Amino acid sequence: MDISNGHGLETIHPEDVLLVCPIEGIYLAARALLKAGDQIVVPCPAYQSLFEVGKSIGCTVQMWNFEDKADTGEIGFNIDTLRKLVTSKTKLIVANFPHNPTGALVSQDEWSELIELCRLHDCYLFSDEMYRGLEHEAGTKLPAACQLYDNAISLSGVSKTLNLPGLRIGWLVTKNPNILHALQHLKDYTTICPPAPSEILALMGLRQQEAILARNKHTIEVNLAALECFIKRNRSTFEYSKPKAGSTVFIKVLNEDAYEFSERLVKEAGIMLLPSQVFLDTEKHVNRVRVGVGRKNVPEILDRLDEYLSH
Ligand SMILES: Cc1ncc(COP(=O)(O)O)c(C=O)c1O
Repeated sequence: MDISNGHGLETIHPEDVLLVCPIEGIYLAARALLKAGDQIVVPCPAYQSLFEVGKSIGCTVQMWNFEDKADTGEIGFNIDTLRKLVTSKTKLIVANFPHNPTGALVSQDEWSELIELCRLHDCYLFSDEMYRGLEHEAGTKLPAACQLYDNAISLSGVSKTLNLPGLRIGWLVTKNPNILHALQHLKDYTTICPPAPSEILALMGLRQQEAILARNKHTIEVNLAALECFIKRNRSTFEYSKPKAGSTVFIKVLNEDAYEFSERLVKEAGIMLLPSQVFLDTEKHVNRVRVGVGRKNVPEILDRLDEYLSH
């Protein structure tokens, strides 16, 4: 009940839910659904394990590349591009909205189209919804995939929206009892059950989620405004891509390799930005860094970065 409240999971019952450590959920789902030779489609860039676990099983991984929308300065994923990648051989589509690292979000209509595409090709949908709830505009929160499609698994947890990553508490939700059974069976070989102290602390967080979420969204709003000003001041070094949701922004680095820049930054200024190479499994090189905007001290870090860049 505490999970369904505030997560819009009204049609979900306790027997549809498996408590997991969030990243464990990605591993269990891939192990439960996939075998060597299967084709899967994964957003690119992506949180590494969303493509690496499938790859390690021996699947063919097709990348659904992000696109820059030149007219709006936004970054997004095009459903028509996805449509071209999905065939009758596709076993699984991975979605991650709100998306890490780009902050992209599809519209409600695009989300329905994506679900219909899964239905049409009878493939599984793994929907990583770790950042769901951190949308920047009212009315843009998508329904959880597990409520719309029986062959979908939704992953969520307390790490991002409630700022409680240390508890290692998340959950997989699916209305397909066969999938849930396979997940439960595999979990016997990973963690068996969640740590009880973390469960209690997560419950306390979930019961205060409205207040915590409101505070987090305010922090992100303040940080995004500071970041936009910072980019304007440093427009010869960076280019902004406006996020729609989440607590990450994926900005272009203009004059230096993003990896080398990030390495230099962490060594010389003690500031960590994640270079695009961390999120890619492709030859395609996008020269970007991910900036986290979920922490309170972002304006202070941006001031330090300003100072470092001015030397
Ligand atoms: C998209 C996404 N999914 C899953 C996870 C895993 O969450 P956790 O670190 O809480 O296990 C992360 C963590 O950064 C993430 O960004």
